Amino acid sequence: MALREIIKFGDDILRKKCREVTNFDEKLAQLLDDMAETLKNADGVGLAAPQVGILRRVVVIDVHDGKGVLELVNPVILRTEGVQTGNEGCLSAPGEWCEVERPMNVVVKAFDRHGKEIEVKGSELLARAVCHEVDHLDGILFIDRVKQDIAKRS
Ligand code: CO
Repeated sequence: MALREIIKFGDDILRKKCREVTNFDEKLAQLLDDMAETLKNADGVGLAAPQVGILRRVVVIDVHDGKGVLELVNPVILRTEGVQTGNEGCLSAPGEWCEVERPMNVVVKAFDRHGKEIEVKGSELLARAVCHEVDHLDGILFIDRVKQDIAKRS
């Protein structure tokens, strides 16, 4: 495993639309391992592949619920329900926190690293993280969804 550099806001890579993963191979496993290590090292909740310069539909999420790192390949949000409003940040924008409205509950379909289809239900922080990371895969950043800029600590 290796740490990868996290690309910061302002870089065009973060505005690109990512392509689907088609090969569930060793290279994907390596990417997922590296992303998990990079996420942990940065003490973050989620990381999307474009944030490490890879334009593929891959995200890792860790909401510290004791279930470890959630790996989502080619994720698609199937359903959302309710609304939550809260502070949100991004590893690509250190020190910036903004109030963002997200669904309270989501159901997401994805593949695991072996190409097996999975379905994950999440609420609260997990729902927020899934929406934030899936947005990254389409070049959408949380600042695009900000209701109100309530704190800037950079
Ligand atoms: Co982010």
